[in-house]
Amino acid sequence: VAQQPRLTVIGTGYLGATHAVSMAVLGYEVLGVDVDPAKVDALVAGRVPFHEPGLPEKLAEALASGRLRFSSSMQEAAEFGDVHFVCVGTPQQRGSNAADLTYVDGAFRELASHITRRALVVGKSTVPVGTAARLAALVREVAPAGADVEVAWNPEFLREGYAVQDTLHPDRLVFGVESPWAEAQLRAAFRPVLDEGTPLVVADLPTSELVKVAANSFLATKISFINAMAEICEATGADVSLLASALSHDTRIGGRFLKPGLGFGGGCLPKDIRAFSARADELGVGQAVRFLDEVDAINLRRRQRTVDLVAELVDGDLAGKKVAALGAAFKPNSDDIRDAPALDVARMLRDAGAIVTVYDPEAMANAARVRPELRYAPSLTAAVVDADVVVLLTEWQQFRDADPEDLGALVHTRRIVDGRHALDADRYRAAGWEYRALGRPVAPRTVEISVDEQDELQRSA
Ligand code: UDX
Repeated sequence: VAQQPRLTVIGTGYLGATHAVSMAVLGYEVLGVDVDPAKVDALVAGRVPFHEPGLPEKLAEALASGRLRFSSSMQEAAEFGDVHFVCVGTPQQRGSNAADLTYVDGAFRELASHITRRALVVGKSTVPVGTAARLAALVREVAPAGADVEVAWNPEFLREGYAVQDTLHPDRLVFGVESPWAEAQLRAAFRPVLDEGTPLVVADLPTSELVKVAANSFLATKISFINAMAEICEATGADVSLLASALSHDTRIGGRFLKPGLGFGGGCLPKDIRAFSARADELGVGQAVRFLDEVDAINLRRRQRTVDLVAELVDGDLAGKKVAALGAAFKPNSDDIRDAPALDVARMLRDAGAIVTVYDPEAMANAARVRPELRYAPSLTAAVVDADVVVLLTEWQQFRDADPEDLGALVHTRRIVDGRHALDADRYRAAGWEYRALGRPVAPRTVEISVDEQDELQRSA
């Protein structure tokens, strides 16, 4: 086993760029490869083509070390690497819930066709269980080196906004392998992370693929569970924030991912639970995960509920009402608008006749590309000018920090819907605002922020 295997990272999107940079920072020789020359050019020039706190600095550090290079040649990758990490996307298929494996299949096939020596090809993409075994057979067939090329799986659990930290110091590592040699290669490729005491689970290929979708399914279920309770609260006058706070003190439940509100979005959770459900159907065990369809439905219902709350504040008629939509990204500290609840709600409000002005600190360019029909303001203050209702959709720190008096001076009418339970209801009410939040009564009590949430806020600060 090579002491220090040479690594390639195929696909330099969100996951791949972070992985390539992090591995170079950890001391490995890394070659990042992407079919998109624009991405390669940007990274070579030290530019990260998306918003991720801390990554530009680490990219500069990695480039300066001389250990990180980029290329668009698969042949170069095949010649260079001992361990290849495949980090291409698996989006949801058009017109179906299943994962689109075009990029993964293409990357494995193309890379393998150039490999002429012993090497390990490691999938990091989130795939339907069974894909890795199929790709292992494909690689053996296509590679000039034949059975000398093995496939392994190494699911990635990083969160956007914490990508570098999660990659350098993960909660755990999972290796899906078919031989002791593959395990040894992966151990060598993660030596510094393992030396830190990071828990490692060594598993077979299907288990390692399942870990990822199971983890995301659990997290999505936890969020939808509390949002289902919000629906019950809305029917009874109970307060879901207080309920979540009380539940979170049970250490068996815990407060993380128990935050009620507009629900989950992004490039992972929504598509992963749908693809899992579709895959389980194919396997004839759809019943086992039927609840995930309900998790998805609960999550989507929160968007309509948010629109309804805004409408309630303007006596049921949104037509011609000016709505300031705060946030477009699927979560703070990200410019990612994939399956973003915020942007979806803005679209729904517009469809209902409202005049919607969107502001987001980082995601405006992406939002305007996907939803050009919405209006965009250059700042928070510009967005709220003359608004009949303000609706907070993504809990950026800037929105939490805004002063209710200052905002109040700009709007037409002081009405606000807090779609993320991010604002201090008492302060808003004291400043004369009509304040409404999902799953909370019209006049809610103050909620102590739970320890877990404070932790998240500090980490994002
Ligand atoms: C997620 C997983 O956390 C990560 O492990 C996996 O690798 C990829 O998918 P990410 O998509 O970056 O990461 O976002 P995450 O921070 O998990 O948030 C997902 C969504 O859930 C966001 O839209 C967020 O607003 C929402 N959310 C999160 C809640 O509504 N309530 C919560 O309590 C937590």
